[in-house]
Amino acid sequence: MGIIITGSNGFLGQHLTDFISKTGLSIYALSRGENQNKITNEINYFSIDLTDEEAVKRIVENIKPSVIIHNAAMSKPDVCHANQRECKMQNVDSTYFLLKAAAPYKPYFLYVSTDFVFGENGPHDENEKPAPLNYYGETKLMAEQLVRASGLDYGIMRPVFIYGQSYENMKPTFLHWVQNSLLQNKPIKVVNDQKRTPTYVYDICKGILSMIEKRAIGDFHLAGKELLSPYQMAVSVAEILKLDANLITPVTSETFPEPVIRAKKSGLKIEKARTQLDYNPISFQEGIRLTFNL
Ligand SMILES: NC(=O)c1ccc[n+]([C@@H]2O[C@H](COP(=O)([O-])OP(=O)(O)OC[C@H]3O[C@@H](n4cnc5c(N)ncnc54)[C@H](OP(=O)(O)O)[C@@H]3O)[C@@H](O)[C@H]2O)c1
Repeated sequence: MGIIITGSNGFLGQHLTDFISKTGLSIYALSRGENQNKITNEINYFSIDLTDEEAVKRIVENIKPSVIIHNAAMSKPDVCHANQRECKMQNVDSTYFLLKAAAPYKPYFLYVSTDFVFGENGPHDENEKPAPLNYYGETKLMAEQLVRASGLDYGIMRPVFIYGQSYENMKPTFLHWVQNSLLQNKPIKVVNDQKRTPTYVYDICKGILSMIEKRAIGDFHLAGKELLSPYQMAVSVAEILKLDANLITPVTSETFPEPVIRAKKSGLKIEKARTQLDYNPISFQEGIRLTFNL
């Protein structure tokens, strides 16, 4: 079984390529530039710009995949807002090119989406109507719609606020930012009026593997089980790492004005994944310990 994973140089992409390759499945990792993955060298890596339709067609023709995990994206809402044309190319057009190229081989197509397709009043379940609040969310929703209309067997997987171990060549997560600031005795202000269900990266990897094995069709939310504010998360990090939580001040979102609207109360419900995928995420406390190898 040949599995294409796009965006393999990104945070989730690196963890996912490592995780899936350890199961013995045959991985074809696709991303821009050089291979950045320092966790594993057990992969076939191909440098590609997924907005190049011809290149996408060629590579899919060569691999003839039985599974495609489309994880690549312009993933920062502020960057998407400021670069809407590029964002649409990376998040929507690339999805279209992949689906079109894949059609003759009928792979299972797993699209990595986001809670940002929803608006307020989370946590959301899979039956809720999406209502994105910003351009990033809009493009992820457009890509979801292309996937649903493709005629392929598809799964749409939505995670929230991903965290986990950060290796060389990976962007540090929010947890690492908190750790680094507190280690330097730097006071930090952290938002306390937004809620998320933070997702431990290896829970997502396990959930994705289960989706592939079951060829699970439809939408699945893979998130953590606790609804927490970034402030609550930061305090937990301080407590578990035995750092000074007094350096953390809770503030409202208005303290950091930004052009992008973000939901105050987001988060995703995971009952469907629990029953249909045997998805059983760890607690946030446990996730912190694993993130910092404690
Ligand atoms: N991080 C989160 O908390 C979170 C939450 C919900 C959903 N998600 C979704 O999860 C997925 C992974 O997120 P992430 O945080 O791991 O993202 P990330 O670190 O930004 O990685 C995305 C990867 O996609 C690659 N990519 C983007 N456009 C490409 C193109 N045109 N051709 C080839 N590769 C391209 C990027 O390449 P470069 O390295 O060259 O830029 C990057 O390596 C995304 O689909 C995101 O929307 C993330």
